[in-house]
Amino acid sequence: MRTMPAPSDDPARTTSSRDQEAIFPLIVTIDGPAGTGKSTVAQRVAERLGLMVLDTGAMYRAAALLVIRLGTDPSDGVAIAAAIETHSMEVDFTADPPTLQLDGHDPGEELRSREVEAIVSIVAAQPEVRQRLVAVQRAIAASHPHLVTEGRDQGSVVFPDAQARFYLTASSEIRAKRRVDQLRRKGQSPDPVEIRNGIEARDRLDAGRSDAPLTRPIGAIEIDTDELSLDEVVDRMIQSIPTRGGRS
Ligand code: DC
Repeated sequence: MRTMPAPSDDPARTTSSRDQEAIFPLIVTIDGPAGTGKSTVAQRVAERLGLMVLDTGAMYRAAALLVIRLGTDPSDGVAIAAAIETHSMEVDFTADPPTLQLDGHDPGEELRSREVEAIVSIVAAQPEVRQRLVAVQRAIAASHPHLVTEGRDQGSVVFPDAQARFYLTASSEIRAKRRVDQLRRKGQSPDPVEIRNGIEARDRLDAGRSDAPLTRPIGAIEIDTDELSLDEVVDRMIQSIPTRGGRS
């Protein structure tokens, strides 16, 4: 897996929407279960601080897509890690938000297909797959050291020394409702019970796996998003991130 260069990788670049000058290098990690709003929150925080975003879930989804395309056993970690090595998987940081390119193409909605959803937790539980993708994530952070990275293990395993680490939570009821609303906006007619059962099943798999289970990183700031708006979550996070403005 390679990474494309950023359009402007100059830490001193300015962004008009930025409200604080970030201190570089700055790695911000956001972990938490599905449906807590990590992706949107990560993008907003990155925008406000002039950082880049890394969606590590997309990497595990791309690995699952490779499994489907190649007909590999989703629990064969060695074969999947080898496939990740031989196929091109790149993060295009020139896109806004950055996109993952598999064999030169953005898989887009395919990463969120039912087929991928059905196996991605199994693929993500394979130690060989995790080892490979963790190495890629650290390499990306080394070449882009001003990053908001979101996933399940970013603050606990991948970047335990990050300057700011957050753990987002929300009840499964609220998370299912958010997902149902999101799918309805796309013109789909999801079954709310099926969605909630799926979310709870994924939680169990992500938290129950032996390698890098979903957990609140020790020392991370936990934010319960049930009663908070997106802006309130983002504001709380920005207040806790060390910046040149010196608010924290
Ligand atoms: O955040 P998401 O729903 O796109 O994540 C897809 C899957 O990948 C989900 O099963 C959790 C897993 N994952 C992981 O194990 N570690 C990460 N850092 C990110 C995602």
